[in-house]
Amino acid sequence: MIARTSSLDDLAAQYRDQLAPLRERYLAVSPDSMAMSLEAVAVCCALAVMREVTDVLDLGSGFGSAAFRTVLSVPVASVDTSSQWLARTSAFIAGAGLPQGTLRTWEDQTRVRHRYGMVVYDAGDMSFRRKHLSDVWPWVRPGGLLVLDDAHDRLYHREARAFLAAHKVTMLDVRGLSTDRFHRFVLVAERQ
Ligand SMILES: C[S@@+](CC[C@H](N)C(=O)[O-])C[C@H]1O[C@@H](n2cnc3c(N)ncnc32)[C@H](O)[C@@H]1O
Repeated sequence: MIARTSSLDDLAAQYRDQLAPLRERYLAVSPDSMAMSLEAVAVCCALAVMREVTDVLDLGSGFGSAAFRTVLSVPVASVDTSSQWLARTSAFIAGAGLPQGTLRTWEDQTRVRHRYGMVVYDAGDMSFRRKHLSDVWPWVRPGGLLVLDDAHDRLYHREARAFLAAHKVTMLDVRGLSTDRFHRFVLVAERQ
C-alpha cells in the first residue's frame, strides 16, 4: 500500500475548492447521494495530474464527467448504462461551457479495445458493479489507475479487494482523503 503524500492532499484540496461551485450546480440535476462526491472527484483529478495520466475513462456519467473536463487537459470518455443519463450529462457539460469530448453508452464501450491511464468505475448499481468489474479491468493500461467509487459498500468492497488481490496491483491509500459525508470513499489500484 502506497501512503498518500502531502502534495496529493494539497492538490486534492485545491480541486475541492475549484470544483465546489460546479458540484453545487450539478445538484440541480441529481441529488448529493447519487452524484460522485467532491472529495472523490478531487482525488481523481489530483492523481491524474500528479501521475500525468494521458486519458480517462469515466464509467458512470455525471458530476465527475464535467469536473474532469474542467480540470484535466487530456481526453475524457464518459460512459453510461442509461442513455437518458448520458443525455443529461451531455446537457450539463454543454451548459457549463465545457467540451463534449467522448460520450457513449456502456454497450458501445464494450466494443472498445483501448486501454486508459485512469479508469473511474461508478456506473450502474452495486450489483452491476460487482458483475462487471472483470469487464472493466482490461480497459486499465499497465501502469494505469483503477478508481472504484462507493467502496463503502461492504459486499462490493470485499469482492473488489478479492478481485484486485488476484491481479497484479499496488493499492494507493486515499480512503481518508476521499471519504464524504455519506461515508463513501474510493479504492485506487495501480495496475502493474
Ligand atoms: C452513482 S451514479 C454515477 C455518478 C457519476 N459518476 C457522477 O460523477 O456524478 C450511477 C448511475 O446512476 C444513474 N443515475 C445518476 N443520477 C441518478 C439519479 N438521480 N437517479 C437515478 N439514477 C441516476 C446514471 O446512470 C449513473 O451513471
